[in-house]
Amino acid sequence: MTPVDFGQIYRDQCPAEGLSLPRQEAEQVSALRDQRSSQLNRPYNRRWWRNAARLPVFVGNDYCIRNGAVRFGDSLRLDDGEQRVLRAALEDLKSWRKGPFCYAGIEVDAEWRSDIKWKRVMELAQPEIRGCRIADVGCNNLYYMYRMLEHDPVLVVGCEPVERYFFYYYLNNKFYRDSRLAFELFGVDDLALYGPFFDLVFFMGVLYHRRHPLLALENLAAAMQPGAHLVIETAGIPGRDESCLFPGKRYMKAPGWWFLPTAAALKNMLERSGFEKVRIHEAFPIDHTEQRKTEWVDTQSLESFLDPEDTRKTVEGYPAPLRMYASAYRRL
Ligand SMILES: C[S@@+](CC[C@H](N)C(=O)[O-])C[C@H]1O[C@@H](n2cnc3c(N)ncnc32)[C@H](O)[C@@H]1O
Repeated sequence: MTPVDFGQIYRDQCPAEGLSLPRQEAEQVSALRDQRSSQLNRPYNRRWWRNAARLPVFVGNDYCIRNGAVRFGDSLRLDDGEQRVLRAALEDLKSWRKGPFCYAGIEVDAEWRSDIKWKRVMELAQPEIRGCRIADVGCNNLYYMYRMLEHDPVLVVGCEPVERYFFYYYLNNKFYRDSRLAFELFGVDDLALYGPFFDLVFFMGVLYHRRHPLLALENLAAAMQPGAHLVIETAGIPGRDESCLFPGKRYMKAPGWWFLPTAAALKNMLERSGFEKVRIHEAFPIDHTEQRKTEWVDTQSLESFLDPEDTRKTVEGYPAPLRMYASAYRRL
């Protein structure tokens, strides 16, 4: 197969110049994109695209949302060969964390029922999506970005520093392209490069994975217009005091959990990082309707991370995480 220049595809598909950023910020964003783009051509990324690259672009198609699933190519009739390649391309991208998705009739039941989170988040975000410039920071496989498109934003920039997620974007673009949607190989700490630009930022499932959570919040604040809205979802712990759990080597079997705040501590963190009018909306445990192992997941899931005798605890004996939903505004 002819080698594909994914760096070039990435640079061509992201409308930085169309963002109407001031010159200095536009140059900064472009320079970082150029730098990151070369990572995509690394040989180990081949496993994500080797079948997707064999698929044609299905021109003139659309997407829709049905029963919480993002569906591409519902009206397409693929021949047997195309069906096989598509299935293989979807298998290459395992494990599917966020979803559900459906590609030309192939249902992908991801580990997370992200439609459940989206319903909660929408209660916080509406009616502000229309006409907004949005960042979805830690956008993973872009599930939420297609949900945002339904509400008429002017722009949705998905930021993900992890290369593999670009290849979901690449696959999706075989079915549906939308010039309002951009994907950037950026992490939260790169966001300040935009200057005060975004009207609405979604920051879901990332804060507790950051070693330096206050720096992450400050960098988000720097990318937001004064008065812009932050919708945040994060893991925390129960309790009325203003404290954070800082686990030892592992939490839920993984090393990448750092600070897990109580609701009061989360409020303080936001207020001390450039936000005001902070409201913590909900905090509740995750259950197996929302996160579970499916045929599209090759790794363990929630059932293996909690104490089977007492699901209020992790397997390490820490309090099990609560999911907290909060909303805050960039200080004027
Ligand atoms: C737990 S997932 C949450 C995904 C999605 N936002 C959601 O709420 O379902 C965390 C995501 O953050 C991404 N991530 C990792 N490092 C990051 C960083 N420095 N900045 C932004 N996102 C990051 C991961 O690749 C992953 O997709």
